[in-house]
Amino acid sequence: MATAVAGKGLEGIVAANSGICWIDGDAGILSYRGIDIHELAVHSTFEETTYLLWNGRLPNAAELQEFTAQLAQSRILDPKIVDLLRSFPASATPMEVLRTAVSALSMYDADENDNLHDANVRKSFRLTSQIGMIVAIYDRLRKGLAVVEPDPTLTHAANFLWMLNGEKPSDTASRTLDVALILHADHELNASTFAARVIAATLSDIHSAVTGAIGALKGPLHGGANEAVMRLLYAIDKAGADPVTYVREMLAAKKKISGFGHRVYKTEDPRATHLRAMSERLSKDSGLTKWYDWSRQIELFINAEKKLNANVDFYSASTYTTLGIDVDLFTPIFAVSRISGWAAHVIEQLDDNRLIRPRAEYIGPAYPSPYVPMANRG
Ligand SMILES: CC(C)(COP(=O)(O)OP(=O)(O)OC[C@H]1O[C@@H](n2cnc3c(N)ncnc32)[C@H](O)[C@@H]1OP(=O)(O)O)[C@@H](O)C(=O)NCCC(=O)NCCS
Repeated sequence: MATAVAGKGLEGIVAANSGICWIDGDAGILSYRGIDIHELAVHSTFEETTYLLWNGRLPNAAELQEFTAQLAQSRILDPKIVDLLRSFPASATPMEVLRTAVSALSMYDADENDNLHDANVRKSFRLTSQIGMIVAIYDRLRKGLAVVEPDPTLTHAANFLWMLNGEKPSDTASRTLDVALILHADHELNASTFAARVIAATLSDIHSAVTGAIGALKGPLHGGANEAVMRLLYAIDKAGADPVTYVREMLAAKKKISGFGHRVYKTEDPRATHLRAMSERLSKDSGLTKWYDWSRQIELFINAEKKLNANVDFYSASTYTTLGIDVDLFTPIFAVSRISGWAAHVIEQLDDNRLIRPRAEYIGPAYPSPYVPMANRG
């Protein structure tokens, strides 16, 4: 039986039972499997956090070692996928490339036709490793640089930077990215994860679910916002404008400022707290303080003017830029992390599946409307 329409955009609607991620938007709390994000950001690693998301508890030392090794051993891409990456037009964006390449991965996966729990875990290991590889390899190919082979001794974060830059990253760069990956790993029923669950619930496959999720992540209201923040900072720079004046004029023109606002958080996004601190630290260490300083000025202005808080995307922009990462890789890097959450949700969905099929409140022409023969139409 259908009930009345929910708030526009399903605001406030609880659409699934899930044991993965809990958010209290009024108190500004985010937790994975009950563990506060602040604890994970300080003490955990991306590998351990992924284990937590997939297994529901923290690993012991041996379990973490085995898990880390399995992720590292999964850094294998069929040469045909690398050929595919070479074949895209110069106009392709890294998000388009990632979406297309992840879709193609299923055809090279040994478990392609197995949708049972264990096969989906195996595919999750591979997807987690392969997404990072695809982003790094594509960036080098489009710049005419040689592909860098993965290094199994490096962490997920460090290996990504190694494959991207062709040089071993500093401990600061590796740990900064590692923490960013922890912070982005999961976020309950955000748009891309919800998309992934809807696709998985048809008993389609995990590659289809993740491909759809990447498509959802790409949009500027979701993961695409981190790129939009940096493009705003570059536009301010190019115009030689004062950041606050520039943003004030955007608001006057009824434009949204990327990196602010959130459907769930009514307080500060707890992830932004860490990204702000990382951005500030990196800017001081590197001497490149402009992006952080401008971000902070904009943040204080938007806080005061619109009562809106920075979200996860706002300070990722200056953080990644200070790490020397190109703007159009920011959203792909979100995927390099969020695959851990998507995989956890797809597996949880399939472990207790039912088709996700809501109803729409019909607001079209009244029924029955006549079928007017062509000759009688105006
Ligand atoms: C995140 C977001 C999509 C949430 O959307 P939502 O829950 O549907 O909220 P709405 O877009 O309806 O916004 C509610 C009000 O706040 C305003 N608002 C929200 N975010 C804003 C922003 N970033 N800049 C300016 N105004 C904003 C809206 O204009 C709206 O005002 P109104 O009621 O006067 O029309 C929205 O805040 C946004 O577009 N932010 C910018 C993109 C972004 O950073 N996305 C990443 C999210 S992690």
